[in-house]
Amino acid sequence: MTQTAAQHVNTLLASYPDFPLPGILFRDLNPVFADAVAFRAIIDELAEKHRGQFDAVAGIEARGFLLAAGIGYAAQCAVLAVRKGGKLPGTVLTEEYDLEYGSARLELEVGQLPAGSRVLIVDDVLATGGTVAATARLVERAGYVTVGVGVVLELADLDGRSRVGAVPVHTIVAV
Ligand code: PRP
Repeated sequence: MTQTAAQHVNTLLASYPDFPLPGILFRDLNPVFADAVAFRAIIDELAEKHRGQFDAVAGIEARGFLLAAGIGYAAQCAVLAVRKGGKLPGTVLTEEYDLEYGSARLELEVGQLPAGSRVLIVDDVLATGGTVAATARLVERAGYVTVGVGVVLELADLDGRSRVGAVPVHTIVAV
C-alpha cells in the first residue's frame, strides 16, 4: 500500500537527545531524505499544496536547499537560496534572527526575480519560527511576496507559526 508523506516521516524520523547542546532533542530528517520513495512523497506534497500559486521556491540553508531543488524541478519554477550570513557576493539583504539555540543571520541576493514574484518558502524544520520569519522579511524586502511556507516537521510546542504571521504554513508532520 502506498504510504503518505506523513507516514514516511513518522517511520524514518530519528531523534538525538542532547545534540548539539544539552537539553536539545535534535530531530534528524536525513533518513527521510535518504529514502527515495519518502523523499519523493514529501516533495510532491509540498509542491502540490501550493500548486499554481508560486513563481519561485526559496530554500533555507541547509536542508531547505534539498527541498527547494526538488520542488523547483517538480513545479518547474525558479529556486532561491537563502544563505547563512557571509556566504553571498554582491548586494545582499541581511536579517538577524534567534534560534532555538543561539542566534544567526540569513541573507538573500537582490534582483534575482521580477518585482512581485510569488515565493514559497521551504525548510526542513519549523521550531521557534525565527528562521522562517527572517526569510519572509528578506523576501518582502527584496520586493517579492511570500504566498506560503512548507516544512517537513513542525515542533508544535514552540509555536513557530505565531511568528510567521498571516502566511499559510503547511507542515507534513507536527510533533
Ligand atoms: C534548523 C532547521 C531550521 C531552523 C529552525 O537549522 O534546519 O532551518 O533550525 O529553527 P527555528 O524555527 O527555531 O528558527 P539550523 O539553524 O540548525 O541550521 P542548519 O540547517 O544549517 O543545520
